[in-house]
Amino acid sequence: MIQAKVADILESDQFLQEHHVKGWVRSFRSNRFIALNDGSTLKNLQCVIDFENTDEDLIKRINVGAAISVKGVLKESLGSQQRVEIEVTELEILGDANPEEVKLTILSPKKHSMEKLREQAHLRVRTNTFGAVMRVRSRLSFAVHKYFQDRNFFYVNTPIITGSDAEGAGEMFRVTSMDIANTPKNEDGSINYKEDFFGKETNLTVSGQLEAETFALGLGQVYTFGPTFRAENSNTSRHLAEFWMIEPEVAFCDLDGNMDLAEDFIKYVLKYILKHCKEDLEFLAERQDNEDKLKPKAERSEMGLLEKLNFVLENNFKRVSYTEAIEILKNSKPNKKKKFNYIIEEWGADLQSEHERYLVEKHFKCPVILFDYPANIKAFYMRLNEDGKTVRAMDILFPGIGEIVGGSQREERLDVLKEKMAELNIPEEELWWYLDTRKFGTCVHSGFGLGFERLVQFATGMGNIRDVIPFPRTPQNAEF
Ligand code: 4AD
Ligand code: MG
Repeated sequence: MIQAKVADILESDQFLQEHHVKGWVRSFRSNRFIALNDGSTLKNLQCVIDFENTDEDLIKRINVGAAISVKGVLKESLGSQQRVEIEVTELEILGDANPEEVKLTILSPKKHSMEKLREQAHLRVRTNTFGAVMRVRSRLSFAVHKYFQDRNFFYVNTPIITGSDAEGAGEMFRVTSMDIANTPKNEDGSINYKEDFFGKETNLTVSGQLEAETFALGLGQVYTFGPTFRAENSNTSRHLAEFWMIEPEVAFCDLDGNMDLAEDFIKYVLKYILKHCKEDLEFLAERQDNEDKLKPKAERSEMGLLEKLNFVLENNFKRVSYTEAIEILKNSKPNKKKKFNYIIEEWGADLQSEHERYLVEKHFKCPVILFDYPANIKAFYMRLNEDGKTVRAMDILFPGIGEIVGGSQREERLDVLKEKMAELNIPEEELWWYLDTRKFGTCVHSGFGLGFERLVQFATGMGNIRDVIPFPRTPQNAEF
């Protein structure tokens, strides 16, 4: 007997052979046809039972959601919906599902809103949409590792608990083992962190970059791929409080090399899923088309999902300096007509997502890499340009997403770095280990961070970032 996954059986031509498969009932009609799904593929396997010779009590338990084990013979199907089916010889209920209770969940075959699905995040992976998204997510993360491993990058696990909050990438979550209702105090009334678990203030990391830099300056080229945390109160479709970030860091690499790496990497992983997740992506493309039909014309996507993914693969990302971008924005229609919420008046303005999206979606109509930002709107570790006012930063902006990558060439000159830290009141004692890398064989090096969920969002066409991570963490929400 062949024990197999639904995905394999659907491709099998071992007709008349006995197969054994386990999964969950998606539907059961005419007391005869079970649509069985085991998560291995979007498609269901039709299992046909001989209801006249099947125990009535058993048939009553074949309900949507139930886990079952099926043994039977593989046959060519007479129906037009499927090539093969299983003619059941033995059926066992492994786990019942009460139909009255199923009615109250997203497992019932009714259409559900994305919000409703989020309320039952423990069950939503049983739906076609989330099954597809999560399979694509898994393959994408494999592609991330494959890309770097094939190119001799080393995977480094940077700490999740950090003692430095110097990066300034966002508000942090505090980590403590103290009784917060009764914290030990210093004489001046402030909290005495010396008595805390680590003997100092600690937080959940916002990025593994600074630690990754120390490794790049020894292993040459490394990447991180782990969870990062930001306690910003941003309730948007692109922000999570807990998200996964991929951060490559490369020694002897300047900003141009960094841009080349980021573009090549993104194209590689998208190409990988186009090849390995065809069925799921086709389903998600159709889902997006259907969703679009319900929207007013102006809000519809200009391209279908597959068209959009191929477009990104086939076109160079447009590389534009911040200074050029500001000129374009200053002269743009929405700026002149005061349609932007933040009007761009002069060089130095920080770009909001409305500006980023204008550049990508309306002006260039392709992915854009913006580089050489004003120093004072970027992090302390970015390399200062000769002009003394811009830094070697780059952001990659994607249609429908906005910023998907943030990176830079790092400031490798000890004196310039120290000066910058002093300017921003970042204590040298806190980052002594980081400064050490600039003392012992410092070198030009660069890296970037890619928000994994924003990549999954782009790849699957899902509108809200909460729908591409298994259990989203957002303000006021840490269920499951
Ligand atoms: O631009 P960010 O803040 O860059 C850094 O953290 C650098 N240390 C990266 C580096 O150079 N190694 O974040 C990088 C990316 C963003 O471009 C975005 O895609 C994603 O992380 N990101 C978020 N994704 C989901 N929810 C949030 N709250 C995010 N904040 C940033
Ligand atoms: Mg950024």
